Amino acid sequence: VRERTLIAVKPDGVQRHLVGQIMQRFELKGFQLVGLKMLQAPEELLSQHYQDLRRKPFYPSLLQYMTSGPIVVMVWEGHNVVRTSRIMVGDTNPAEAQAGTIRGDFSIHISRNVIHASDSVEGAKREIQLWFHGKELIDWTCCNHSSIYQV
Ligand code: CMP
Repeated sequence: VRERTLIAVKPDGVQRHLVGQIMQRFELKGFQLVGLKMLQAPEELLSQHYQDLRRKPFYPSLLQYMTSGPIVVMVWEGHNVVRTSRIMVGDTNPAEAQAGTIRGDFSIHISRNVIHASDSVEGAKREIQLWFHGKELIDWTCCNHSSIYQV
């Protein structure tokens, strides 16, 4: 099933120059980029994004971390992209994440885990609406892909 997911490179990933490598993994896997922006995340947006975590003890430090620098937010589209992205990203705790996954390869601690990926199709829909206006997302069905080979 063709679906969309929200992927975000967190401030540590941006500061460590991992944006290109992370995007390349999704490109090479075969997913299609439909939205992309870099921004200093407003606290209001983050509190909506992390609404289920508000009562967690680490919530204040999570907000501090997520506002410590710009983030890169993306929407990727493709077959089964929500679940496959979670596999590519690896366990929330980088210490448990397998080598070959993004967190497994690029991070060591849960409080600096480099990347976000939506955890369900419903969650992805909610998060995409939160971070993007509809007009910011590309409708690839409008484009004939083979046209790039036609001069
Ligand atoms: P993510 O799964 O993308 O979204 C929730 C985030 O909260 C998670 O990544 C971590 O960045 C953070 N987080 C989860 N658990 C902890 C924890 N025990 N200590 C610090 N940060 C955490």
